Amino acid sequence: MNSIETETYKVHFNSKGYEELNRYINKHNFSKIFILVDTNTHEHCLTAFMSQLKANIAMEIIEIDAGEQHKTIETCVGVWNALSDLNADRKSILLNLGGGVVTDLGGFVASTFKRGIKYINIPTSLLAMVDASVGGKTGVDLGTVKNQIGIINSGDIVLIDTSFLDTLPQNQLKSGLAEMLKHGLIKDKAYFETLTDLSKLTLNDLDDLIYESVIIKKNIVTEDPNELGIRKHLNFGHTLGHAIESYFLESEHKEELLHGEAVAVGMVLECYLSAELLNFSKDDLESITKAINMIYKPVIFEDKDYAPIIEFLKFDKKNEHGNINFVLLEAIGQPKIDCLAPNELILEAFQFYNNSINN
Ligand code: GLY
Repeated sequence: MNSIETETYKVHFNSKGYEELNRYINKHNFSKIFILVDTNTHEHCLTAFMSQLKANIAMEIIEIDAGEQHKTIETCVGVWNALSDLNADRKSILLNLGGGVVTDLGGFVASTFKRGIKYINIPTSLLAMVDASVGGKTGVDLGTVKNQIGIINSGDIVLIDTSFLDTLPQNQLKSGLAEMLKHGLIKDKAYFETLTDLSKLTLNDLDDLIYESVIIKKNIVTEDPNELGIRKHLNFGHTLGHAIESYFLESEHKEELLHGEAVAVGMVLECYLSAELLNFSKDDLESITKAINMIYKPVIFEDKDYAPIIEFLKFDKKNEHGNINFVLLEAIGQPKIDCLAPNELILEAFQFYNNSINN
């Protein structure tokens, strides 16, 4: 697969990606290589990755606990301390080998350690390949509120090795698929339809579909790197998705909900709001809802859940002057930013979702 290049970073794929990575590392005369893993990628990905790395430079592994609950400033402190104890200097490089938590947190740690060292993302989950690792968003959660702390700073390279997906559980694959579905909904109806016709897809198609998603994301991020305008389109499904995810993360009585599982519900809810507020086609609302419900397990909401979920909306990063700004759709491929939705309509959207999973 050809590399995808922007002025600030390059995304390389598979075997050619390792050649480029090795060339980059050997060109830059780094003092030390630090590889950030979590407990899962340490076990499943590190050996394969190390076997491809051809660099005659001292290396150290730093491991963090796996899981969104560890995407915290406390974990960053642990990694900063490890870098410091292991004598990292400003010519050191951090390689983030993992899913979205590792790439977001590692990018943030690198961007702030000694006011910034270089870093490279090697995403190992589908979600990180098509979304988290591209576009330079780095950061951590504040309590259970998602991605409240962070900065935008791209590493020079992203290396996508799709063979890591072979070890990924189904639910994690589906979590990443939600971001790809989002790319279709905000940009390309045909792409959305290809993705939802899973019966026709094989694992061999996945590389091409990932490539297409990275291109969609890259084009948006290149036009608006600092999210002043069209980058907000990438937040479709995420205003309610993040609030649901945060609420489930903090509620002991709720089962774990992956990011993409929450975003999938968020997309149904926000399509409903789009139909009510922007005349989004009711037929498309029905077919998108059906497609999403075919892929994802139903999420059960109780009456007592809605008020705290709506409360979480106030932390959304797109909010301005006290308004909760949604990205909604006028049509598939035509997002509209800065839309306001009254709470009663949000509650109606939940009722729509609840009815859809019961039918
Ligand atoms: N994940 C959304 C963005 O990178 O803007």
